Amino acid sequence: MYGMIHRAMRQMVFEQLGEEAWLALEHRLKIGPTELLTGMVYEDTLTFEIVAEAAARFNLTVDECLFEFGRYWIRYAEQGSLSSIMTFTGQDLASFIANLDRLHLAVGAAMPGTRLPSFTTLERNSGHLVVEYRSDRMGLENFVCGLFHGLMDRFDTHGDVAITSRGEKSVVFEIRYHDGQ
Ligand code: HEM
Repeated sequence: MYGMIHRAMRQMVFEQLGEEAWLALEHRLKIGPTELLTGMVYEDTLTFEIVAEAAARFNLTVDECLFEFGRYWIRYAEQGSLSSIMTFTGQDLASFIANLDRLHLAVGAAMPGTRLPSFTTLERNSGHLVVEYRSDRMGLENFVCGLFHGLMDRFDTHGDVAITSRGEKSVVFEIRYHDGQ
């Protein structure tokens, strides 16, 4: 995956465990700043190694770490140069999710070689969404769950995310939510 993802992972480890923990992770995986270049594409195996190594340091399972990373990614994207694209994507949870493909299309145009996911809203009612996630990649459902939770945080809503079905390249999520407080 794009180095941008590795940088976000580094930031999460930095903020929560400190610089030493990240340097130890780099040392263990025999990587360095060259594996963190924002605009470079790396093998997914490297991305998964970084996640697995970070998970061990957080004392989490890989799935738990993917969930936390998804949630973190939303906060990460709210900072710096990505914040305006987040603002344009939508002003509430349902609209934001409906526009996710546009967000990735805009991102992908500037980043050749990405394999971006696709999200389709299958049902949209007040406080209830059914969303299909399609991807070439396997094993990222917990990341997606964390991303949806991060989006709920962003829009000051609370709720639950559940998986209702799995296909070969798709997973259907059900999101039930209500406004904050
Ligand atoms: C400004 C915000 C965002 C940017 C710049 C961005 C960019 C990216 C990039 C560069 C990748 C890696 C693709 C690759 O290397 O092949 C990616 C993957 C992914 N993104 Fe985003 N993204 C953003 C927001 C979101 C949001 C809000 C979601 C919420 C659901 C999301 C869901 C995903 C998922 C699930 C993947 C994993 C790829 C896969 O499933 O195959 N992204 N994104």
